Parts: sequence; structure tokens; C-alpha cells
Amino acid sequence: LSARLGLDTERVVAPVSRRTFGSFVEHMGRGVYGGIYEPSHPAADADGFRRDVLDLVREMGVSLVRYPGGNFVSGYRWEDGIGPAYQRPVRRDLAWHSLETNEVGIDEFMRWATKANLDVMYALNLGTRGVQEALDVHEYLTFESGTHLSELRRSHGADKPYGIRSFCLGNEMDGPWQTGHKTAHEYGRLAAETARALRSADPSLELIACGSSHSSMPTFGAWEATVLELAYDEVDAISAHAYYEPIDGDLASFLASAVDMDHFIDSVTATADSVGARRKSKKRISISFDEWNVWYLSKFQSRPTPVDWQVAPRVIEDSYNVADAVVVGSLLISLLRHSDRVTAACQAQLVNVIAPIRAEPTGTAWRQTTFHPFALTSRLAQGNVLDVKITSPAYETPRFGAVPVLDAVATHDPATGDLTVFAVNRHQTDPVDLTIPLPASTQVAESWLLTDSDLKATNTQENPDRVVPRPAEPTLTDNTLRLTLPPVSWSAIRLA
Ligand code: AHR
Repeated sequence: LSARLGLDTERVVAPVSRRTFGSFVEHMGRGVYGGIYEPSHPAADADGFRRDVLDLVREMGVSLVRYPGGNFVSGYRWEDGIGPAYQRPVRRDLAWHSLETNEVGIDEFMRWATKANLDVMYALNLGTRGVQEALDVHEYLTFESGTHLSELRRSHGADKPYGIRSFCLGNEMDGPWQTGHKTAHEYGRLAAETARALRSADPSLELIACGSSHSSMPTFGAWEATVLELAYDEVDAISAHAYYEPIDGDLASFLASAVDMDHFIDSVTATADSVGARRKSKKRISISFDEWNVWYLSKFQSRPTPVDWQVAPRVIEDSYNVADAVVVGSLLISLLRHSDRVTAACQAQLVNVIAPIRAEPTGTAWRQTTFHPFALTSRLAQGNVLDVKITSPAYETPRFGAVPVLDAVATHDPATGDLTVFAVNRHQTDPVDLTIPLPASTQVAESWLLTDSDLKATNTQENPDRVVPRPAEPTLTDNTLRLTLPPVSWSAIRLA
């Protein structure tokens, strides 16, 4: 098979947003306890945070972290997690049927986020709570001093307010599984009123309304339209969530998951713009794709009933293989290509729970296969995202029909002149000979290839580097780059 990629540095989609490389830490399973926090671990620092995990988070190039949930947040009382640890209550977490000790709360988490050099996107509980509690946590987090809650924060050691600017107005409120689930009308009104109150405290906040939990929700589209009709003037963005897996062994469709993500983003954009047009508004609502990943969800849903009410049980600790890493790389291509509308994205989640980083109690922390395309894309995507021209043969998929074998995006940094191409071959058996015409005097600065003859290969604690990116072997002659993309592979090539 052969394919061609046309690049034009003048065809700019948008600047690369560092916020595309966000992640997500939920109080769920071993994400917090036994993930980022394990005071008894030999690698723990004075605050109980695992230094080996922190090192991997920094290496991964994560920019932003959404916290503290997820489904968890819809029953969460943020006040449980402040003040002396011994006074903090243990609570039931109805979302995951486990026990929450509240040993880590917002003050501890902010200490961790500072060490990891991450901005925080804070999710508010609009499931069991409302406007007052949202105002309270906002005051605790962001007010300088002199009020009850800002002084309370200061008495807990945080003299200065935390620089949190982004707030999610609840989580997946369209989902019947959500504690305090609402109709679009009920939620739209609550989101609008919560946003109005928060804005009167600080007009410069970024406020994100809940969109659909996935694009196959029965209310998809109608939910976004109703919520935005009610909250358009008050919010900046609407969320999107999507998880992908090979359903019934259908690898062809799984490898084309980015087709679904593209369609999801385009549909939400069209819905938001149609509401804006009806309102004669010049404002454009952006998309916060604040949960996305590969998740073997059907395995989770068909599991035997777990033991209830444990602290930090092992939940959805999926092991990711080579095909999963290629899909993660292609989902990042989709997010980058939509940088004009997707202003933040969070891979869900960060440690242990459907995560690129795994950590074992008293053991080591290691990079799953999916760590690598994320880390390389975060490091290499610089400057502007380009609108590339893909010429590619197609292959048939049961879910999406004919899909181009090649998917790709490119970035160009006007400051350095670097041009970086990210490319995926989705074909399961055939290599793709890719050609890219380039400006004269371009050189290959670095090139990476992630693939394997065993698509099921994973990284484990015993063999943590079984799957790693290896140097690719492009050639550059007559101002044309040529590279063979093996079947089921992800590549990144930086040209200088
Ligand atoms: O990331 C796991 C869960 O997936 C989150 O808690 C929820 O928001 C989503 O359904």
C-alpha cells in the first residue's frame, strides 16, 4: 500500500494547546491510594507521594490534571478532606462501592500537583450538591484571605490561594449511573445557576458544562442542545467523554476509533454552533474532552461482583498492549487535529486505573505501552497544528465502513522551524509506503516507531520495557521523505 501526506505550513488549524496533554486522577481504585500516594513505600517523599510515580508523570509530559472525579465526585463532600487527617471521616463511595478514607484531600492533592508541575481542573459535585457547595469550595481554593474559608485554608498551611482557573460543573450528569443524575433541563438550569454564581465571584473562570458520557448515549446531541440553550452565556466549554475497546474481537474498527472521536467532536461542535446561531451569539463554545482512553469496559461490566466497601481496591487496572498504544496515538492525532475547538483534553486516568502508569505496593512503577505515544506527542507537538492532506487507500471496518489506512497530523513550530509528523497505519497485515514532499534542506532530527509482531505484547513489572518506541528508518532524497509504516504502527518524525 502507498500513501501520501501533503504539508503546508501556512495551513494552520490552531496553535498546539499544552492542555491537550491533560490527564485525570479520580478517587477510585488505586488511583490515589497506592497510586500517587503510598506513605509506606520506600520511594515515598515526606508527604507520602511516590517519587517514582512523580518522575514518570513528569516524563510523560502531562500538563493538566482533572480531579477528584469522575463518578466519585457526584457524592463527594470536599470538606471531608481538609484539616487534621485523624479527624477526617471515612465515607462510603457509592460510585465504586469502596471506602474513602479522605487521607488525601484537596490540600494534599494540590501539593502533589505542584510537585508534578500540573495545572488542576477541579470537578464540582453537582450530583448530591449545588450552588452553595460549589461557591464554598471555590472560596476555599481561590480566595486570598480574610473570609472564613480562605482563612481555614490558610490555617491548613496554604497561605496563598491555589491557582485553579478551570471548574467542571459536575460529572456525566446525563448518565443514569451517576449519583444525582438529572434530565438535560434539570442539569442545564443547575449548571447555569452554579456558573452564574461562580462568575460573580470571579468572571475570569473557565467553566465547563457536562456534555454526553459517550456519543452512543440515547440523549446524545439533544442533551448538548438543551444544556447549552440553558447555559450558553454562562459556560465556556462543554465536555465530551469516550472510551474505546475492541468489541467482540473487532480489531479493524478498534484501530479506527479516531474516526468515532472525530465524528463526536464534529457533532458537538455543530450542535453548540447551532445553539449559538439561534441565540445570535458571537461566542464559541469549546470542547473539553476531559475523559478519553482505551478501556476494556465490557470486561469490567461482566466481571463477578467485587467485594464491596474496601479501601482502594484493585479496579479496572487494564494492561495495555501494542494495538492499544497505536489507538492512543491515533486518538491524540484526532485531538490535535481539532485544536481549534478542543481546548483541553484529559486521558483517563493517570495511575493504575485504566492508566499509562502502573505502580505496585512496595514494588516498582512502570510505563504501560500507552505511555509512549502520549509522552512523545506531548514532547514533539510544538507550535501550530497543520491541516494536512492525506491521500490513502481505505480498508473496510464493521463499525465505520471504509476508513483510510493512514491517519496523520503535523505540527510546525515557526520559532524553531521544526516540522513534526505523527502517523498511524491502521492496516492489520499490509505495510504502508508513506511519501511526504518537503521544503528543500529539511533534515530528519529524530524519528520513532511503535509497533511489534505481537500486537498483544504488554509491559509488566518484570519486563517493563518489552514494548518501547524504537528509531524509525525514514529516507530523505529529492526533497521527499519516505517511510514504511508497518501494519498496526504509530510513528513520529521530527524534521528540522
Ligand atoms: O474513568 C472512569 C469513569 O468513567 C469515571 O469515573 C466516569 O466519569 C466515567 O464513566
